[in-house]
Amino acid sequence: MRTYSGSQERIQQAKEVLAGGVASTLRGSMKPTPLYAESASGVIVRDVDGNEYIDYLLAYGPSILGHAHPELTERIHSAMQKGYTYGLQHDGEIQLARKLVSVLPCADKVALSGSGTEAVMLALRLSRAYTGKRKVIRFHGHYHGWSDSIFTSFPSPDMMQKATDSGNAATPPGTKGQSESSLSDVILLPWNDPDVLKATLEEQGHDIAAVISEPVLCNNGCIMPLPGYLEQMRELTAKHNVVMILDEVITGFRLGISGAHGRFGLKPDLVTVGKALGGGIAISGVAGRKEIMALIDREEVSHLGTLNGNTVSTAAALAIIDILSRDNGAVYTKMEELTASLVGSIRSLFTKHGLRGVVNQIGPVFNMMFIDRDEVNHFDEFQTRNAGLYAKFAELMLEEGVLVRPNGLWYLSAAHEQSHIDATVAAIDRVLAHLKVKEAAR
Ligand SMILES: Cc1ncc(COP(=O)(O)O)c(C=O)c1O
Repeated sequence: MRTYSGSQERIQQAKEVLAGGVASTLRGSMKPTPLYAESASGVIVRDVDGNEYIDYLLAYGPSILGHAHPELTERIHSAMQKGYTYGLQHDGEIQLARKLVSVLPCADKVALSGSGTEAVMLALRLSRAYTGKRKVIRFHGHYHGWSDSIFTSFPSPDMMQKATDSGNAATPPGTKGQSESSLSDVILLPWNDPDVLKATLEEQGHDIAAVISEPVLCNNGCIMPLPGYLEQMRELTAKHNVVMILDEVITGFRLGISGAHGRFGLKPDLVTVGKALGGGIAISGVAGRKEIMALIDREEVSHLGTLNGNTVSTAAALAIIDILSRDNGAVYTKMEELTASLVGSIRSLFTKHGLRGVVNQIGPVFNMMFIDRDEVNHFDEFQTRNAGLYAKFAELMLEEGVLVRPNGLWYLSAAHEQSHIDATVAAIDRVLAHLKVKEAAR
């Protein structure tokens, strides 16, 4: 049995002085206790109790190269030696902007910020200024950061709420203290439902500034867009003079160097990127059409931030893009092959242990769920999974030395090797055998 006493003591100490005990609310939900990290390198994370884990949490997505990657670390160090941030301009900004424009198909220009939340705020502001309209369509189960203007209940109860066909149901706030008036501009629709999107744009398009969507519903179920759905979204938004924003904070630099929109051959008006772009250093961006980005050029839209484009974050992002692009993106092929092998093994283990489950995967990201279905293509379907059983699974995996998120989302990094996958599959086999016995006894 592993012990977590060091983490358990620290969370109690933290609660005395750190609001909520953790730095981001979601992290508090880990069972049996929020873990305290001591260090991490490659795919191995060590906690303060001396336990080691193969990491599939990857800091909620950013650590695409694994932890403490030598070249990334070296390039961040050398940038730091010249000063971290100036509040002046520097060459790294131009180099990074050029690089982003060259790798992201939808990008004529980019703007740099610090977090995914800020990038989404800017994309929404640009959309309203560009169209002169005010409403925004967003979808059930998608997450676009925690700003008042877009945060709805996450992960419940709004996502259980049935959207009306016209999308006029009041959109519930995600937290106490949120300005309700900001959400009066938000229309919440079911995703992957072409008819609802079409009807809403036809009825209310004159008042809608933007449709914002994750290209793949990574935040809840890793659900793929149905064939033709995003293409239809592109056509309809163009027809109604609505800005199409793809929120690529997860998929950007994870599903390939050109993100999901490059992978799918789509041209949204704006994309937001973050997470993997910085490899663990805070940076995000909005990329898109020059006509829309020109609002910033003309100073009609304000884009601000003390630390925007600082030397450390731009050096990190440049290093990440260089490393991921090498050998024609060979690292993506490796990550995808390893992920496919892990996912194939999980599916076989479901069968072996007589447990019903689904794994939705694209590239080096997947969601594993216990559910009484063969496929999960909609958020409503995902909501019928046995979330409690998965949380138990995640807790038992910690005992086996494998760190996974309690909501079923797994990330792989460039540092994962076949030996890690083999050890993980053996651990899953043991945990599923244990869960099967428990389930049978219920
Ligand atoms: C799709 C998506 N958009 C935006 C965000 C917000 O990013 P950040 O946590 O960096 O503010 C997230 C975070 O998980 C995300 O998954």
